[in-house]
Amino acid sequence: MLDNRGRNISYLRLSVTDRCNCRCVYCMPKDGVPMLSHDDILSFEEMRDIVAASATLGVRKVRITGGEPLVRRGIVELVRMVAEVPGISEVDMTTNATLLAPIAADLRAAGLCRLNVSLDTLDAARYRKITRTGTLDDAIAGLRAARDAGFVGTKINCALVGGLNDDQLRPIAELARDHAVTVRFIELMRMGECAHWPRERFVSADEVLVQVPELERVGVDGVSELYQAPGWQGGVGLIRPMTHRFCSSCDRIRVTADGRLKPCLHSSAEVNLRGLSGEALVDAIRSGIASKPEGHRMDATHASDTPRAMNEIGG
Ligand code: 5AD
Ligand code: SF4
Repeated sequence: MLDNRGRNISYLRLSVTDRCNCRCVYCMPKDGVPMLSHDDILSFEEMRDIVAASATLGVRKVRITGGEPLVRRGIVELVRMVAEVPGISEVDMTTNATLLAPIAADLRAAGLCRLNVSLDTLDAARYRKITRTGTLDDAIAGLRAARDAGFVGTKINCALVGGLNDDQLRPIAELARDHAVTVRFIELMRMGECAHWPRERFVSADEVLVQVPELERVGVDGVSELYQAPGWQGGVGLIRPMTHRFCSSCDRIRVTADGRLKPCLHSSAEVNLRGLSGEALVDAIRSGIASKPEGHRMDATHASDTPRAMNEIGG
């Protein structure tokens, strides 16, 4: 379906839980946040109905996000239910991969197409510092298991955090030298936990090009500028949400774990989908798409307008 600015909305990001087994410094407060109770969270059937209603309006691709989707019990079954919805041609997932190893093959068999794995550093101590509770080896084991389970086109998402990983970007970029993965460096967005962080925490993606000078720009893929280096198996992407606006080509909507449609990540506008079914559900999604804002105002000094934290929206 086209929104009011002629953008074709074909991509739904579905947050299946606000919980996470990590506490990344830019995403979650140290002591966690008040979590949604079980009753507040959409059931699998409600999620399937939302995906089905979205599909009748032209959504073709679904990304399962969190929090951390793998902490949701029964996630393999949920993937299967979403993948079976008529009209849905692709189901992907964003995960920190620390819980992935034991179920990678099951997820693949359930119809999961591709994985985006969040990994900000390859240094175990730094990894612990950034995630507070995560263990690098678990994430690496998850990546290996994904490869062994037959996942291809895996993307590594590395958030640039001044003072925590910006002096060591080369090792993580080199994952794309040694493996057929795309390593995407993402400028930190001023929202949630880091909304009021000092400027020096916000590192330009240009820093990647300083540390890996052999990268050559080869094109654009959606929100990502693509780079390659001679002889590397995979590619590198730079994502600059703070300095480049993708709003005019934005093709996505989001649904939070408690069943609110968010037409824009950075807007406080939400449409409740809870308790709706049939035509009423389709109408609510249609009105959400129709009201998608033209763009956001977040930049180097202005924080995002969303009152929600990243773990509630899933990026
Ligand atoms: N800016 C950019 N990326 C963020 N993520 C979480 N918070 C932010 C932020 N403020 C990223 C994580 C992970 C994904 C789920 O979202 O690094 O890759
Ligand atoms: Fe969890 Fe991802 Fe947030 Fe880290 S960024 S705390 S892994 S949801």
